[in-house]
Amino acid sequence: MKIAVVGAGYVGLVSAACFAELGHEVVAIENDLEKLAQLHSGCVPIHENLLSELFLRHAGIRLTFTSDISDGIRNAEAVFITVGTPPAPNGDADLSFVEAVAREIACDLQSRKVVVEKSTVPVRTCEAVRRTMLLAGADRRLFSVASNPEFLREGTAVSDFLYPDRIVVGVDDEYSRSVLAAVYSPLTNGSYYRRDDAIPGYSAGAPRILFTSVKSAELIKHASNAFLAMKISFINTVAAVSEAVGADIRQVCEGVGADSRIGNRFLNPGIGYGGSCFPKDVLAFRSIATQLGCDAELLTATMNVNQRQRDRFVEKVRHAVWNLRGKRLAVLGLAFKGGTDDTRESPAIEIVRRLVKEGAQIVAYDPAAVERAKRELTDIEIEYSDDPYEACRGADALLVLTEWQLFSELDLRRLAQLLRCPMLIDGRNLFDPSEVKEAGLHYHSIGRRESEAPLPESEELVPWHQ
Ligand code: UDX
Repeated sequence: MKIAVVGAGYVGLVSAACFAELGHEVVAIENDLEKLAQLHSGCVPIHENLLSELFLRHAGIRLTFTSDISDGIRNAEAVFITVGTPPAPNGDADLSFVEAVAREIACDLQSRKVVVEKSTVPVRTCEAVRRTMLLAGADRRLFSVASNPEFLREGTAVSDFLYPDRIVVGVDDEYSRSVLAAVYSPLTNGSYYRRDDAIPGYSAGAPRILFTSVKSAELIKHASNAFLAMKISFINTVAAVSEAVGADIRQVCEGVGADSRIGNRFLNPGIGYGGSCFPKDVLAFRSIATQLGCDAELLTATMNVNQRQRDRFVEKVRHAVWNLRGKRLAVLGLAFKGGTDDTRESPAIEIVRRLVKEGAQIVAYDPAAVERAKRELTDIEIEYSDDPYEACRGADALLVLTEWQLFSELDLRRLAQLLRCPMLIDGRNLFDPSEVKEAGLHYHSIGRRESEAPLPESEELVPWHQ
């Protein structure tokens, strides 16, 4: 099938490459000429596992790029809209890019197409897209509008696309249903998984495609992300209680998550959720719910708990090192989660900024996100290190802010020797408290009592101010 994808951002690029992987002929349309030049030269402009592999396989063959929307959509049967929907100052999603694309498609409509909204948008956006296209003069017989929300997580987006839990397709007419069923048929009929060259992944069988009305599909996206964000805020609330009474949140999570009605995924406490989706989606969902006159208190609480979690972590650091002014703190992790270079709405970035404003000196390491962090943290001065151990040399404490797998594999004894003060403050619960203690480090984590390594004999104690 011939497919056009408008907007080669994160979702657009992954979707376009994966559609090509499924055997479709894909044109990705991007109006940022610098990005387009990168794409033409075969460069993948984002850090995403397996995406380079898909580019090697398909770029220039089944996956091509253009800045010309009219050219790009000419032969397409399905046109996916994957442009950005950033938050507007009032919390609504800013849909001006979606509107602009809808108008352009309307002006270039020469053959029948299904226009599929894939960006995360509030319920009723497809209705507005359809109206915009009609007002722009599109022939109603030549298009229908569908919704196909994505559930891609950064870092595992390609596998999430090819091995989804479910595929949600919102359609209000038979034609759209048949086109979108054909788009995803290599996954739903299992033929993709039987290919020798299939990207490996875990699948418990071919995924289910769920056809719903357009409005229901739009709501599924916001409801899913808001639920996951709420689950994280919930467990962060429990973690605070657990810490206060001296329980162990890992055991609590195991017990709670073992109930199959709850499940143990997205039940890890930490420094709060970040990224380009959860914060924005919860805000936008609350905004649309409020506009519709519906109660959105649960969403407000989810956001407040998330903010409070960052505050609590800064308090924890203050409690551990006493005065922040003049303290040298090693920070491991700047990305909003492990496996990505993305620092958008990263709790780590906010925490670093606040610690610096309180007088701490930061030396930070992240395996992928340093360049992006530098662009974001222009208002403060911090040092960057290209080695996690070096970052710790002579520091008054080590802070772990992102759940990179490689951090959990660090040699704790070596860290203890490099740090000036053997203090580990773990915002992601990456370590086992008894192992940290054995390595000679004091340990502060989330939802567990702090654990003290034996203090050196009094004459060996290093005063804080030295
Ligand atoms: C999310 C959704 O998972 C995905 O379905 C949607 O399409 C886009 O938004 P993503 O933003 O890539 O994906 O990250 P995700 O893995 O969901 O993590 C979001 C945030 O929650 C991160 O900051 C992460 O560290 C945090 N998190 C996640 C927790 O604090 N605890 C958890 O148990 C899980």
